[in-house]
Amino acid sequence: MKQLVVSVVVCVVVQYVTAIRYHNETRLSPVNRQLSEFLDEHPKPIGVYTRLTGDPLDIRDTVTLNTNIFDNKNLFLETSHLVRERIPERVVHAKGYGAFGYFEVTHDVSQYTKADVFNGIGKKTPLVGRFSTAIENLGGSDLLRETRALALKMYTKEGNLDFLCLHLPIFLYNEPLDFTRFLHTMKRNPRTNLFDSTQRWDFFTLKPQFLHTILWLQSDFGLPAGYRKMDIFPLHVYEIYNKHGDRYFVKFNFRTTIGLANLTDAQAAALNLESPDYFNIDLYNAIAEKNYPSWRLEMDILTKEDLKKVDYDPFDLTRLWKRGTYRTVTIGRIVFNDNVDNTFKDIEQLALNPDNLVPGILGPHDEVFKSRRIFYPDAQNYRLGGNHHNIQVNAPLYDKTYNRDGVPPVKDNMKYAPNYYPNSFHGPMPYVDEARPTEMLKVLHSNAIDLQPLNEFYNEIVDTDAHRQRIADHLAESLVNVPTGLQKRAIYILTLIDIGLGRRVKNALQVSKNVDRVARRNQIAECIANVDEASKRPRHKLQKIMFYNHGRN
Ligand code: HEM
Ligand SMILES: *[C@@H]1O[C@H](CO)[C@@H](O)[C@H](O)[C@H]1NC(C)=O
Ligand SMILES: *[C@@H]1O[C@H](CO)[C@@H](O)[C@H](O)[C@H]1NC(C)=O
Repeated sequence: MKQLVVSVVVCVVVQYVTAIRYHNETRLSPVNRQLSEFLDEHPKPIGVYTRLTGDPLDIRDTVTLNTNIFDNKNLFLETSHLVRERIPERVVHAKGYGAFGYFEVTHDVSQYTKADVFNGIGKKTPLVGRFSTAIENLGGSDLLRETRALALKMYTKEGNLDFLCLHLPIFLYNEPLDFTRFLHTMKRNPRTNLFDSTQRWDFFTLKPQFLHTILWLQSDFGLPAGYRKMDIFPLHVYEIYNKHGDRYFVKFNFRTTIGLANLTDAQAAALNLESPDYFNIDLYNAIAEKNYPSWRLEMDILTKEDLKKVDYDPFDLTRLWKRGTYRTVTIGRIVFNDNVDNTFKDIEQLALNPDNLVPGILGPHDEVFKSRRIFYPDAQNYRLGGNHHNIQVNAPLYDKTYNRDGVPPVKDNMKYAPNYYPNSFHGPMPYVDEARPTEMLKVLHSNAIDLQPLNEFYNEIVDTDAHRQRIADHLAESLVNVPTGLQKRAIYILTLIDIGLGRRVKNALQVSKNVDRVARRNQIAECIANVDEASKRPRHKLQKIMFYNHGRN
């Protein structure tokens, strides 16, 4: 009897499998072929279905109907595991996707840094990267006008080197305490549970230095046409040193090799209707189709002597270095050539920390960076646990420490090696980095609010009036649902940045108040009508689902 049931099931399964072998259909893009590809690679089931504890599951235990469910071996294990599937999403950059790839040295930069990873033309170092949007929650949209990121972990011979980068070349603030304050304005209003432009504009107008990044965001740079088509910046000024101990102060830039491209709000809205995961789809498909995304890594360099000469604060994250004061050299390139096999394992569990640095790269000295040295491991201890560095994707190529035990994973927990330092029994020993600078740089910042960089962005980096108008239109758009008094305050500050900008926003706001309101409603009504129309179209016939009740015999 048992054998009969099994062979009937096998027959049915074989039939179904044959019916869905559609992997060669070019109509489907790689994201839609993923399961078929799995099937292609596995002509037979990959093995016997077991319980979590490894014992093979009898087919009669795959159903509970008409049985005593408390007798079922698997019901509790499967379900209780499901309710524990979620871990906290990242407090920022919750929505993302990533891939594996490599870094390759293309130029000799040994005169600037002794870091092994950057030395030896042709040397390749494996890496993992996670692309994300800053504010959206898990399950949000890729297509909003907001900061995007790429965070990288390079598995170098001298330890993990992480670069956490944003897609704009400046940052919002240089006061670490502003992290929490700013984030609350960007996240949901505690009562309405909605993103709230009033709380945002209130905060920005009280702290106008934030408007520099806001101007960049409301420009064409604020909405790239996919993760592959944006430049990315670790932003801080890193101190690096060569094998003789000579020090340099550098900003790294990753420049996309396929060129920048951006979306209009209307294009983004249209794509969003198709799928809010557009950036994720684009990245997966590109890699699957072997259009490997890549970026050239270069660094802008100031010497110690340059630092004394420049007439601006090069360590201020909220402004660019002045043109003509630094030189730029290329180091290498990063290439992503492998989609991850399992997103939770390699991307959700990924713990990236800007403080993961290697000999030859001493790191930045500004207060924001110093605070980040503490906050990232803290976030990851909470999100992933105190041994997050032992999770496979986070583990360095080599590590020998005196840390032991704790919530798993513990790997081999350093077996029976001595667990205290110093010791006389040949536990791990520190090394001496002869070249490491002994003098520490102390960076002090000014508290004054300087709107000059904002003016320069608007007038110099943005180089057409049409582009300036788009910025003004986007700013006005974000001000539409804000109380009048606050609109006035915003326009006042935008006018201080640039008279023309203030005027353009004021006019755009006027227009959107009067005429556009009606047009906007009509547009929305039309969209809704279209959606209604679409929903009337015949749906695919629901696939007939067959249930097999094997019961107990
Ligand atoms: C005071 C300043 C900052 C604080 C306190 C802060 C804090 C955080 C925290 C807590 C996370 C979540 C980490 C996790 O759960 O794994 C995060 C993620 C991230 N931050 Fe920051 N951040 C700051 C500034 C910056 C700056 C200046 C950059 C870029 C240069 C940056 C880039 C990123 C990126 C790319 C991620 C996502 C990492 C990932 O994909 O896992 N952050 N930040
Ligand atoms: C699918 O296409 C590839 C390449 O064209 C071919 O080698 C393979 O045999 C095809 N598979 C099936 C099941 O038709
Ligand atoms: C954004 O895209 C438009 C349309 O392709 C283009 O005209 C414009 O120059 C782009 N802006 C930037 C900053 O690349």
